[in-house]
Amino acid sequence: MKFSAEIPQWRDSLPKLFQQVFSDSEGEDEGKVIGALVSDLLSNTPEDDLQAAISQDGPKVLGCILFSRLRFEQDTRQVFLMSPVAVRTDRQKSGVGQKLIRFGLEGLRSANVDYVVTYGDPAYYGRSGFVPISEDFAPAPMPLSHPHGWLGQALTETETAPFKGPSHCVEAFNKPELW
Ligand SMILES: CC(C)(COP(=O)(O)OP(=O)(O)OC[C@H]1O[C@@H](n2cnc3c(N)ncnc32)[C@H](O)[C@@H]1OP(=O)(O)O)[C@@H](O)C(=O)NCCC(=O)NCCS
Repeated sequence: MKFSAEIPQWRDSLPKLFQQVFSDSEGEDEGKVIGALVSDLLSNTPEDDLQAAISQDGPKVLGCILFSRLRFEQDTRQVFLMSPVAVRTDRQKSGVGQKLIRFGLEGLRSANVDYVVTYGDPAYYGRSGFVPISEDFAPAPMPLSHPHGWLGQALTETETAPFKGPSHCVEAFNKPELW
């Protein structure tokens, strides 16, 4: 198993991977929504605002995480949103997800990103250092339907002060139904 942050060679396979994984776990409709989100993220996000963590086994992609920039209007710190996350259905529960997250966060750290947020299951993401955060601490770019899934972690050692919003996600995430 190898890890990479290089998107171009996987550009066509990533939307399909996400569509398949989310169809298997959440149903066909959700699969289509997430496949379309990934396609949109890859096509319409400025290079500087998108990072990836991809795990591969030979020519096969096993899993992927996309990270996109989150801007806080009155804050100069660099923040990225970790979403979505997918591991091939037949390779789940063997540690790929946790290793991918670790690899992705290392990549962000090397790019001098200060903080990472995600929106998901606190039980799973808590295993890789994410803690629940409030919207007073980091205002979300859209109303959250599951505020308990709003999570974050600092990538630097310094004490973290609240982020001064409002915040803005990249265009592909600018859809209330995704939040
Ligand atoms: C969620 C996901 C990325 C985890 O990847 P993975 O490679 O299967 O996870 P890992 O092998 O690193 O970790 C597995 C462990 O996490 C646990 N786990 C997996 N999903 C979990 C969840 N939603 N909540 C709590 N624990 C979870 C497993 O039970 C397992 O625990 P164990 O080690 O005690 O047996 C993967 O299952 C997936 O792609 N799921 C479908 C899509 C999805 O839900 N994505 C996340 C939302 S964006």
